[in-house]
Amino acid sequence: MFKLITVFGATGMQGTSVINHILDDPHLREEFRIRGVTRDITKSAAKALLNRNIDIVTADLNIASTIIPAIRDSHTLFLVTDYWAHQDPNTEFEQGKNVIDVAKAAGVKHVIFSSLDSAIWQTDGRYKYVGHREGKARVEEYRRASGMAWTSVLVGYYMSNFLGLVERVFCGEGEEYRLRYPFEGRRAVLPLVDAERDVGVFVGAALKDPDGFAGRRVLAADRYYSAQEVMETFCCVTGKQGVFRQATPKEFRDLAPEGCGLEYMETHKMIDEYGYFMGGVGELNESLQLVQGSTSSLTEYFRRVSSHWD
Ligand SMILES: NC(=O)c1ccc[n+]([C@@H]2O[C@H](COP(=O)([O-])OP(=O)(O)OC[C@H]3O[C@@H](n4cnc5c(N)ncnc54)[C@H](OP(=O)(O)O)[C@@H]3O)[C@@H](O)[C@H]2O)c1
Repeated sequence: MFKLITVFGATGMQGTSVINHILDDPHLREEFRIRGVTRDITKSAAKALLNRNIDIVTADLNIASTIIPAIRDSHTLFLVTDYWAHQDPNTEFEQGKNVIDVAKAAGVKHVIFSSLDSAIWQTDGRYKYVGHREGKARVEEYRRASGMAWTSVLVGYYMSNFLGLVERVFCGEGEEYRLRYPFEGRRAVLPLVDAERDVGVFVGAALKDPDGFAGRRVLAADRYYSAQEVMETFCCVTGKQGVFRQATPKEFRDLAPEGCGLEYMETHKMIDEYGYFMGGVGELNESLQLVQGSTSSLTEYFRRVSSHWD
C-alpha cells in the first residue's frame, strides 16, 4: 500500500529535488506515491512531471480552499514557501498557516517544512530586514502550537546563487570573473548546498525514518566554504580568471536586484556576524551524519553548470 506525499513547489528547485530523490531511490519509490502541486498545470515544468507518472494538482498557497483537495488523503507533505515571489513575511506566514490548518484537519501524519531561523529573534532585533527568514520562522512557531509531527529542513545557501553573483567584468584589455560580498573572503561562512540535487537527500532521510526525524531540525548543506574558496574552485573548474573582492556595504547593495538591496546587505552581514544557521559547525556535522556524505561538492556543482559562463 502506497503512502501519498504531496510536494508543494513541485516545479521549483527544492520540490524538484525532493521528487527526483524519491523517484531515484528504490525504497522510497516503492513506499510513496507523489502528488506535485503547481498553480499552473500548463507550464512546461508541470508537464514534465506528468511525463514522469506523478499526479499533478493545481493549488495556490494564498487560497486555503484550493489547498484542501491538494492535501486530501496525504500521509506526508513537503512544504516550501516562495518568499521571493512576493517579498512579504506576512504573506509567507499566511501560506504556511493555511497549509498547517488544512493538514491538521486532514490528518496528515508528517510535515516536512523548508525553513530558516528568524534574524530578528536570533540577533535581538539588530537585523530587521532579512524578510525571507521571518515568515518561515513564524510558520515554525505556529506549527509548534498545532502539535503536528514535523521535521524542519533548514536549507543552506544555494550554490546556484553563484550563477548570478559571479559576474564577468571587463578590465583593461582582458576580462575577469568576480564575486563580491561585504565581508572578508577567507572566513568560511557559507554553508553551500546544491539545492536542486541535495534538498531531496535530506528530505529523503526524514521520509525513511519519520519517527526518528519528528520534531527535528535538519541543516541541509555540503559544508562551509569561504568566498575565496568559492572563486578558487570556480577558476579550477572553469579555467577562467576569477577573483573575490570585498565590497563596501553600498557597493553590495547596488549589486542586488531592484528593491532587494537592504535585504541582501543585511542577509550577508548577518551571515558574517552570526553564522548562516546561527549555530556552530557541529550542528551541520550532525545533519551530515544523517545523510552519510552523499551531498554534492562545489566542484561537482561548478562542473555541472560551467557552460553558464561560456
Ligand atoms: N537562494 C537561497 O540561497 C535559499 C536558501 C535557503 C532557502 N531559500 C528559500 O527557498 C524558497 C524558494 O524555493 P525554490 O528555490 O524551490 O523556489 P523556485 O525554484 O523559485 O520555485 C518556486 C516554487 O514555488 C511555487 N509557488 C510559488 N508561489 C506559490 C503559491 N502562491 N502557491 C503555490 N505554489 C507556489 C512555484 O510553483 P508554480 O509556479 O508552479 O505554481 C514553484 O514551484 C524561498 O522561500 C527562499 O527563501 C533560498
